[in-house]
Amino acid sequence: MRGVLIPAALFGLAVIVMLAASAQGDEAPTDAKAFEPSAARGYRHVLDTGYVPATLDEKVLAGIWMAWPEADRAAAEKADPAARRAMVFARYGFTPRPDDPKGAPLQLARAKNGDLHLSCFTCHAGQIDGRVMAGLPNVNIALQSLVEDARATRTALKLPLRAHDMAAGFIPHGGTTGTTNAVVFSIVLLQFRNQDLEVVPPKRRLHLPHHDLDAPPLWHYKRKTHLYMDGFAKPSHRALMQFLLVPMNNKAKVVGFENDYRDIQAWIQQVEAPKFPYEIDKALAAQGEKVFSASCAACHGTYGKDGRYPNRIIPLEKVGTDRARFDAIREEDRLVYSRSWLSEYDPQRVRLDTSGYVAPPLDGIWATAPYLHNGSVPTLHHLFFPDERPRFWKRDPKAYDKTRIGLKFETAEAMPTEGSRHDKRHWFDTTAKGKSNQGHDFPAKLSKPARRALLEYLKTL
Ligand code: HEC
Ligand code: HEC
Repeated sequence: MRGVLIPAALFGLAVIVMLAASAQGDEAPTDAKAFEPSAARGYRHVLDTGYVPATLDEKVLAGIWMAWPEADRAAAEKADPAARRAMVFARYGFTPRPDDPKGAPLQLARAKNGDLHLSCFTCHAGQIDGRVMAGLPNVNIALQSLVEDARATRTALKLPLRAHDMAAGFIPHGGTTGTTNAVVFSIVLLQFRNQDLEVVPPKRRLHLPHHDLDAPPLWHYKRKTHLYMDGFAKPSHRALMQFLLVPMNNKAKVVGFENDYRDIQAWIQQVEAPKFPYEIDKALAAQGEKVFSASCAACHGTYGKDGRYPNRIIPLEKVGTDRARFDAIREEDRLVYSRSWLSEYDPQRVRLDTSGYVAPPLDGIWATAPYLHNGSVPTLHHLFFPDERPRFWKRDPKAYDKTRIGLKFETAEAMPTEGSRHDKRHWFDTTAKGKSNQGHDFPAKLSKPARRALLEYLKTL
């Protein structure tokens, strides 16, 4: 894929604003030897610390419905405050924090002054079948709508625009509900840094490979020798710090947070996959296990007591799924990462020549619909029966399909042309760039009864 050249003047302006904002900050020493990471502390850091400049605050969140299209706004206006807050949360994919009297969203970090920041949980905490869990992908995140509406609300309330409003003007955050342009957190932001993470104007033509991804569950972390869809980086707390690389965070600030990320990593390492909450046909699952051992385990590993996960990367031509993510992070980008502070200046920590996508672990697979790395397939049934995969589909934000295992959805003949931008984003367009639902036809080679047994077995993982 070719890089995109954004207009020099606009870009120059953005860099000046960001550099000015990053001017202050003392370097905090990080002493790894004396430090004992704590998972409990890691969880609190995600909830309480703004690691990137705030996107909104409680005041804007309370008034954000005023930026909605007429019918939605009228409904919100009539509702009592609790119902209105529930509408706001439902719209952006938020759930109230457990054990929090103020009912702050689990998906945003709340600083002491009431500012609300994007956090790991924006994309990595969500609900499935009504059960909320940190570490589960957020299937309902509507990040683009959130940043657009927050900006409109601030303008309406005559509040000054925030740094995030500037960036959001030219960086798309996610075109389909439940997916985000997360690739921006690594490759795009690293182009504004030297290898020591000092903010510098980018030397090369900017490479802006925007496309949407479905967040993986965090319980995979402890099983992986290499992270991310293409398996390019070894797990480490520094790899997780790519999220901090917005130019407003200068080097001292990023490095100063290193111990927080040791804690956050400790928290991620103890996240466990949830168990399937409904009945399982044990006899059918046992048949499915045999099919799995013969047809799937070589790539996806084995499960149960002596389970082994092989961490295999499957060449793109073989797996045949959408290639936009593979093309987005090029060998030269991986090289830059490998020589940087993020990989401890150790090129050995990076796989430069990845050839395709990681065959992911399948623990808790029942809970992580939609499927494939871009979230293009709504249920396991549709993954197993490729001819039935819907072309244009819209998720039902709450309903869970216990039979086909995944999201309930409706389909259309074409993408809708009517309705608000927000409403249209609920529709997944598998013909759009980065959103193909093709490939991974391995299960389709099996008989239909074998596939049904396999589906039953996957519920047990
Ligand atoms: C805007 C959404 C978003 C935010 C915010 C976000 N992530 Fe992610 N995360 C993703 C997506 C999407 C991927 C897949 C990226 C890829 O593989 O290219 C991912 C990948 C990961 C992985 C690799 C998982 C694997 O199995 O390979 C880890 C670990 C992770 N994120 C942790 C975090 C942490 C910790 C934070 C906060 C510091 C965070 N993420 C913030 C969306 C997000
Ligand atoms: C040759 C290796 C290979 C074989 C064989 C294989 N898979 Fe996969 N599988 C992959 C890869 C690679 C992906 C990731 C593709 C992507 O996301 O683009 C994947 C993805 C999946 C996913 C979706 C994971 C998610 O989180 O979205 C499921 C479910 C799955 N495979 C099940 C199976 C089953 C069941 C079988 C046996 C019939 C099987 N696979 C056979 C390589 C394989």
